[in-house]
Amino acid sequence: MRGKFISLEGGEGSGKTTAIHFIRQWLDDHKIPYIMTREPGGTPLAEEIRQLVLTPRDESVNDVTELLLVFAARAQHLAEKIQPALDKGTWVISDRFLDSSYVYQGKARGGDIAMLDQLANWVVGDNKPDATLVLDVPVELGQERVVQRQHQDRLDKESFAFHQKVRDGFLERAEADPKRVKIVDASQSLESVKSQIEEQLAKLNEAWAGDC
Ligand SMILES: Nc1ncnc2c1ncn2[C@@H]1O[C@H](COP(=O)(O)OP(=O)(O)O)[C@@H](O)[C@H]1O
Ligand SMILES: [Mg+2]
Repeated sequence: MRGKFISLEGGEGSGKTTAIHFIRQWLDDHKIPYIMTREPGGTPLAEEIRQLVLTPRDESVNDVTELLLVFAARAQHLAEKIQPALDKGTWVISDRFLDSSYVYQGKARGGDIAMLDQLANWVVGDNKPDATLVLDVPVELGQERVVQRQHQDRLDKESFAFHQKVRDGFLERAEADPKRVKIVDASQSLESVKSQIEEQLAKLNEAWAGDC
């Protein structure tokens, strides 16, 4: 049976990387085979593209350039890592995926949504995540959590207004597709976030078991 594909989304400091650890524990407890990956990136070539996208630079980066780079990385990631794993029945957990493109390159940068839809159909096709967990926190709290971070990437350095659009964008994605996209209140304590995630995973697993 095909593996399940779960993406984690949310702004900087929302707790995606932390959530990955909780998911890892849950999958181990349930003896489910999985791989963990991230976007942009996930393969050596796609990680090189990640550096191109995220490195702060003097030259201004054209919005279309940024959009095409993240989709180029995604094509590679899907072909070389995600699809082969799902085909083997391995679950794939990705720290960011397609929703981030709609939110960062679409909502926050004002990119053309029809163009994004076309790229999504072309590059991702049927390989959309089976479920997406959006870690939601107020922008201020997310930023407080990452102030100690040594390396601020090109997107971290964007304005507060940009990050507010990112948060709004993820909430809109959840509202538009509530069956797939679940919101986790990530402003709560770590224990609460952990139990919210475990609850979502248990519900999804039950629903998926009923599908077959
Ligand atoms: N619910 C939480 N409560 C308190 N601190 C948190 C919580 N979630 C994450 N953190 C802390 O905030 C920082 C950013 O979390 P991280 O998981 O790296 O976020 P992201 O990957 O979404 O940028 C880390 O230092 C992490 O330990
Ligand atoms: Mg992270």
